[in-house]
Amino acid sequence: MKLHHVGYLTKNLQDTRREFALLGFWVEQEAAFDPLRKLDIAFLRNGAYRVELVEPKGEASPLFPLLKKYKNTPYHLCYETDSLGEEIRRMEQGGYRVIQEPLDAPCIQGGTVAFLIHPDMGIVELLGREGRL
Ligand code: NI
Repeated sequence: MKLHHVGYLTKNLQDTRREFALLGFWVEQEAAFDPLRKLDIAFLRNGAYRVELVEPKGEASPLFPLLKKYKNTPYHLCYETDSLGEEIRRMEQGGYRVIQEPLDAPCIQGGTVAFLIHPDMGIVELLGREGRL
């Protein structure tokens, strides 16, 4: 599968974005609020590389505990697939467990995302898509 982005957890999206700018990243998609997960999300690019900045908005966000533990850090890789359901089944057979069933990703037009976890790997995000970022 093709790598789509690195998910990067941040305490403050704008502050972290400024630091990424010094490393050559430009804003591909401005920050937008994801009401399902209570997060602000922005996408940055540097050549072929894409970083998703994720700022949990308060304790109601399911990612708040992770932020408290890790502060600013990369925390998942996201892979693109044309057949999300099939890929999830294949990965489950390989020992992955689904931690978030496929849901619309409001910040990726036409995209549906699922999260899986594996004891030897950690968190993996899968993006099934019709739309394009
Ligand atoms: Ni992501």
